[in-house]
Amino acid sequence: MSAGNGLHDATRLLHAGAPQLRAGSGPVNVPVVRTSTVRFENTAAHADHHHRRTAGERVASYGRHGLDTHRALEDAVTALEGGHRAFLTPSGLSAITLVLLALLSPGDHALVADGVYAPLRRVDSTLLKRLNITVEYFSPAHDDLASLLRPNTRLLYLESPTSLLYEVLDLPALSKIARERGVTVATDNTWSGGWFYKPLALGANISIQAATKYISGHSDLMQGIVVVDSPALAAKLLSAHEALGLTIGADDAYLALRGLRTLPVRLAQHQRNATEVARFLQQQAQVGRVYYPALPEDPGHALWRRDFSGASGLVSFAFRDATAAEADAFVDALTLFGIGASWGGYESLALAAQPERLREHRQWQGNAPVVRLHVGLEDPGDLVADLARAFAKATPTATAPAPAPAPAAAPFRELSAGAHLL
Ligand SMILES: Cc1ncc(COP(=O)(O)O)c(C=O)c1O
Repeated sequence: MSAGNGLHDATRLLHAGAPQLRAGSGPVNVPVVRTSTVRFENTAAHADHHHRRTAGERVASYGRHGLDTHRALEDAVTALEGGHRAFLTPSGLSAITLVLLALLSPGDHALVADGVYAPLRRVDSTLLKRLNITVEYFSPAHDDLASLLRPNTRLLYLESPTSLLYEVLDLPALSKIARERGVTVATDNTWSGGWFYKPLALGANISIQAATKYISGHSDLMQGIVVVDSPALAAKLLSAHEALGLTIGADDAYLALRGLRTLPVRLAQHQRNATEVARFLQQQAQVGRVYYPALPEDPGHALWRRDFSGASGLVSFAFRDATAAEADAFVDALTLFGIGASWGGYESLALAAQPERLREHRQWQGNAPVVRLHVGLEDPGDLVADLARAFAKATPTATAPAPAPAPAAAPFRELSAGAHLL
């Protein structure tokens, strides 16, 4: 799909935030501007910068507020998410905390989807409770959102697909209900890297990403990004961002910008590889269910087709009837999948889910252990062979019949680069 100026999204993402040529030439990449101190020509210039910055303008005044490298990244991710302004934070979790603290005051109530990235609950129990802010977890699939909204509800916080079990939420419907009651809608968009999913165009006011994952793409960076859709929200985020002293180094801003340039091609390959792995898993006797919304058999598939332009490399599966020890043995038997909690880098990872995390999701049923895979950019044939070896080693006696191969009637989309406007 073409963007408004006739360029495709992938093209715009490659050039967003690129430096202007000066005196006829210049580098392709934005320079890394490392500094704490900014010098001013005179006191009037200093006062002028201070005044403009406190009024919300993005001018270079002090290292903590960011300089050229930060600006370039902010511009690129604002374009990626289709928003008004971006804020950079030292981790994905600090981006979540920033949004919660910027929008919630003592006495307020927030509704949070039960399948969101679990450490949000720690922000709730350690910070928000002390501030007399009430967080209520709800199941978007089972609960009636309208009846849960209270006069003091200020925030609806979502993540789609949810962490671990990848439940796709009906963001347009949920946002409509919240916004009609004046409730701000924020959503974690880390799963899509901001490329496959455009929550601001679907009704959310705020999109949050752990740039640690797909934007970085190389497992060498911790970073969070918040993109808001309006000047009013930008003003709220700005004052909390400054009060908390959140900042990132220019080198990290540069790394995120570099990652952004290859985001679409990396995600396209993650999707291809993850699809192959998900199909393989569906056919294993030991597997009870595969969680990957791009599969036509996934309950979230119709919503995913409607709202997303592709799927990431995250695939979870539940064993049919293995023990927790067998699930651990399976993970230990893998050789190409590292054992690690993060994801979004080029490499494949595996981790058995903690049962207490699964129980937080109301849609979770059953007792069988779940393994989360991040399918990386290795050759998918090697990944499938590794998984097959691990199944054979960890659960050699599994005899249940393999489920029928998935129907080909509703094939999911291959990524078409630039399926959404930047
Ligand atoms: C969906 C999601 N959001 C946010 C985060 C937090 O990111 P970070 O580890 O950079 O704090 C993670 C980390 O795993 C995540 O999976």
